[in-house]
Amino acid sequence: MGARLVLILGGTAEAAGLARALADRPGWRNVTSLAGRTSAPGPVAGELRQGGFGGVTGLTAWLAAERPAAVVDATHPFARQMPWHAAEACAALGIPRLRLLRPSWQRATEDRWVEVADAAEAVRILPNFGKTALLTTGHEAAPTFLQLHPRMRLVLRSIEPIPDLPLGVVHVQARPPFTPEAEAALLARYGVDVLVSKASGGAAGHAKILAARAQGIPVVLLARPPQPDGPAVADPSEALSWLSGLG
Ligand SMILES: NC(=O)c1ccc[n+]([C@@H]2O[C@H](COP(=O)([O-])OP(=O)(O)OC[C@H]3O[C@@H](n4cnc5c(N)ncnc54)[C@H](OP(=O)(O)O)[C@@H]3O)[C@@H](O)[C@H]2O)c1
Repeated sequence: MGARLVLILGGTAEAAGLARALADRPGWRNVTSLAGRTSAPGPVAGELRQGGFGGVTGLTAWLAAERPAAVVDATHPFARQMPWHAAEACAALGIPRLRLLRPSWQRATEDRWVEVADAAEAVRILPNFGKTALLTTGHEAAPTFLQLHPRMRLVLRSIEPIPDLPLGVVHVQARPPFTPEAEAALLARYGVDVLVSKASGGAAGHAKILAARAQGIPVVLLARPPQPDGPAVADPSEALSWLSGLG
């Protein structure tokens, strides 16, 4: 029998971790699929495909042709479409699907978190917190927050460049992971009054939460979108156990 194929829907550290683990495992091979949004994605163990599938129809056609033994949806907690596409396509073809979803951060008593549904709600409440906001919600949310300029001083941090920013908006282009020390220095450098973050969870983004906690800075947290029903695990090792149990 040939090696069993796993399609990993990626774009996260967890997807990369599972790909590394599977690449070392006899009897398995994996294809990691990336949306192709990041200009310089990190290295991936195993095979790689990039770009959208073309909706549920395209994904279903890909799965029907490749016939993976399983799909592990390890997309980011804020990926709004891909988990639903994967759920529908896998259900149609009877392919086992697992959601690999990192846990949310745990709130400590000193944390000053305000949870909001989305960026629009964050925009409505941000002026209550002071003058300067550090926005770590990615380049795609930037236009929503730019409504606050010049009423507030905005410091936007993103992996990707953000073209055509108005004069006076600060852009910090940087790629995680960050240390709590570096995050503390960033908060201090710009005199940040409030931090805005997705409730992404995970180690790579936690440093800013720790730095805000240490400095008593409030954090406006964008809530995670809903997920399709079905089996879910929190880390790559649990995903490996689930795959092994497929028989
Ligand atoms: N949203 C975030 O905050 C965030 C943060 C870090 C990393 N990411 C990663 O970036 C990717 C895109 O994020 P998004 O928020 O745009 O997701 P999304 O809303 O779920 O997906 C939008 C479209 O992008 C394509 N796509 C998404 N993930 C894909 C994958 N792994 N392989 C192939 N095509 C994919 C699909 O296109 P088709 O319909 O044409 O198949 C999908 O319909 C995801 O893979 C996610 O893991 C997202």
